Amino acid sequence: MPLTQAREITPAQRLDNLRYAIRDLVGLANEVKKQGNKILFLNVGDPNIFDFATPAHVIEAAYRAMRDNKNGYAPSDGVPEALEAIRAEAEQSGISSIQDVFITNGAGEAVDTCLTALLNPGENLLTPSPDYPLYTAVLCKTGAEMNSYFQNEEDGWQPDLEDMRRKINPRTRAIILINPNNPTGALCTRKMLEQIAELARQHNLLIIADEIYNKLILDGGEHISIAAVAPDIPVVTLRLSANHPEQYAIKVALEGPQDHLIEVRRKLSARRDITVEACNAIPRMSCVPPRGAFYAFPKIDIPEGDNVWVKELLLQKHILVVHGSGFGQKPGTKHFRIVFLPQEEVLKKAYAEIGDFMKGRY
Ligand SMILES: Cc1ncc(COP(=O)(O)O)c(C=O)c1O
Repeated sequence: MPLTQAREITPAQRLDNLRYAIRDLVGLANEVKKQGNKILFLNVGDPNIFDFATPAHVIEAAYRAMRDNKNGYAPSDGVPEALEAIRAEAEQSGISSIQDVFITNGAGEAVDTCLTALLNPGENLLTPSPDYPLYTAVLCKTGAEMNSYFQNEEDGWQPDLEDMRRKINPRTRAIILINPNNPTGALCTRKMLEQIAELARQHNLLIIADEIYNKLILDGGEHISIAAVAPDIPVVTLRLSANHPEQYAIKVALEGPQDHLIEVRRKLSARRDITVEACNAIPRMSCVPPRGAFYAFPKIDIPEGDNVWVKELLLQKHILVVHGSGFGQKPGTKHFRIVFLPQEEVLKKAYAEIGDFMKGRY
């Protein structure tokens, strides 16, 4: 039916600064696809579209719950057995002073709830740069300001503590820490966590610890929860979460067999190695090795903006990655974020194409 209103319905002004780089080029990618090209989507971190599968015992638990008619409203704070399992898991990772556990629909809802509950207009939040765009997107609607601290590429993308210290002002309310990090894959050292905790202590700040990739630590490294090193500081620790029937899978997912993760980490380590080696072999490109998750954030030395570079890569090579400027980065530097989930052959082919693209362009 044709629209009858004379005036356009315009979005709220608070959306003016809203950016979500990860999906920026999806419309263009779909156009390129319609022209008969096959696009390699390396922009979204979704393991199940590659050769990673949800373990059978987790599917079974969710399926059983749906069959048992657990399909209405979940209890407000979550299903008791899931809450208990999360509490036990947190205690096992050294978090001793747990005040409260509750389950949301994805970490995204937890972030939205926390920031909306915490921030007044004019206050600010210390967010990492680069960061996962969810935080800056939610900030748009609170009227609070983004106050980003750099992470040091020269230091394996660890947070730049001095920069963080400099950025804290009387209107700063909290520090966001993404560990392991998206998009860089960095894993924080214990010393770094202790120093960040000390800053929070001195300035009375809340820490929001996004630790959703805590089980995907590569190289046999150790993930340390900041709440475990700073039991005296208010910390909101985020875990991957679920809707109602899936909540019944949380207990078996946390307490049941974990052996599938050995194979997952083996695959991811090999794919990370391919990524780092390939990117460091391409002229004008370098990559800090990610220590966790499945993202890499290679640096590119190019004259144009990284958003232009990403668009051209899509149009010429049908590979979709995300421009680094969409995550925030040090002025003058350029990057892109790539998801290294695909099978080795697919990745190798993609890096060959990216290398070819660079050679042809510069
Ligand atoms: C670092 C980080 N935090 C939060 C989220 C959002 O998590 P969810 O999909 O559970 O809302 C993601 C998703 O990719 C992420 O990478």
